[in-house]
Amino acid sequence: MQKQWDFKLPVRVRFGSGVREEITAVVAQCGERVVLVGDAGVAELDFFKEMKNRIGLCTVFTDVEPNPTVANVDALAGVIREVNADVVVAVGGGSVLDCAKAACCLACTEEPSVRVFHTEGKKFGRDRVPLIAVPTTAGTGSEVTPFAVLDDREKGVKGPIASDSFYPRLALIDPELTYSLPLKITAATGLDALSHAMEGYWSKNHQPICDLMAMEAARLIFKSLPVVYADPSNAESRAAMSYAALLAGMAFQLPKNAMVHACSFPLSNRFHMPHGTACAFTLEFALKLNAPAMDGRMEAFARYCGFFSIEEMSAVIRNLKVNGGLPCTLKDAGIPKAEVSRLVEESFHPLMNNNPVPVTAQILFQMYEELAV
Ligand SMILES: NC(=O)c1ccc[n+]([C@@H]2O[C@H](COP(=O)([O-])OP(=O)(O)OC[C@H]3O[C@@H](n4cnc5c(N)ncnc54)[C@H](O)[C@@H]3O)[C@@H](O)[C@H]2O)c1
Ligand SMILES: [Zn+2]
Repeated sequence: MQKQWDFKLPVRVRFGSGVREEITAVVAQCGERVVLVGDAGVAELDFFKEMKNRIGLCTVFTDVEPNPTVANVDALAGVIREVNADVVVAVGGGSVLDCAKAACCLACTEEPSVRVFHTEGKKFGRDRVPLIAVPTTAGTGSEVTPFAVLDDREKGVKGPIASDSFYPRLALIDPELTYSLPLKITAATGLDALSHAMEGYWSKNHQPICDLMAMEAARLIFKSLPVVYADPSNAESRAAMSYAALLAGMAFQLPKNAMVHACSFPLSNRFHMPHGTACAFTLEFALKLNAPAMDGRMEAFARYCGFFSIEEMSAVIRNLKVNGGLPCTLKDAGIPKAEVSRLVEESFHPLMNNNPVPVTAQILFQMYEELAV
């Protein structure tokens, strides 16, 4: 008998070139007090200024670091409380979206810091300020997931927290906002989306609707990522990448990620690898480890994406990293071999338990041995 499963997606999605123009009408329906969130990078870009003009009178907050910190969330929640915001609009990559998701919830509590929920494990209730998520990278899928990945630097704890209250009210996905992404960020975020598709698919909790979305997301990424490397404003391929990142977000948000994401946390924490770069780093090893334990499902995935074999798919992933300027070896990444023991030790995040093959320290040592050259 087939195992039981469920599916939900409580986020309204508007997708397509030009949908950003709808922001004026959307915020007008929510109220007058608007907080617009970005980061230092996106705040300099023309589309951010355009969004601000379209919204009109609003409070702007751009103090969000890549891999947002507990302090970033606390500061934004303070602003949301101070202006008694009716709605928050987050324009940026996963860092901006995650910071806003957590702050919209924190602002409705009595707690001064998100640390209580992140590091100390308290659960958020249902109250939150409505959030409009406008992604400007094609990667994390954060616009449709119930997760926020936060870094508590003081306590040395970085990782995802989950709450159904994090789902944005609306995801406004305009692929034109991704045209300005430089090559390396295009590569890292695109391969993050591919990691979500593959991890959602091989997760022990995978289910049929998410499987379909995962395969289609991966097919689109293999087809479109090389095109946007060569032609960053290619409308069709940028749109395909934004759609693929959305599909991949929906594909992992219920099954959840597995070993690739578990291993990414110490790579990002210790060696400041951007999230997508860290996921891409171990993706081929995980693919070859997991495929033989999946009853032919991974071969079917590869065939759907146009490959004859897992080996061929794996070689194409490596090329996508090389051509996108991402590291493929410990040496490329500037990681001394002496650090491997610590990386292995810190990789055992609970997401590791979703992996179809049980992962031991020995397997991870073997992985880093192969990644040394
Ligand atoms: N919530 C989730 O479900 C989820 C899933 C995966 C990853 N994440 C988290 O998301 C974060 C990573 O997000 P990301 O990969 O989107 O990167 P990011 O948000 O950290 O942005 C990376 C850089 O790209 C710049 N940038 C963003 N859009 C741009 C554009 N259109 N043009 C030029 N520059 C642009 C930003 O200013 C920043 O400097 C990590 O903290 C990761 O852990 C969250
Ligand atoms: Zn990811």
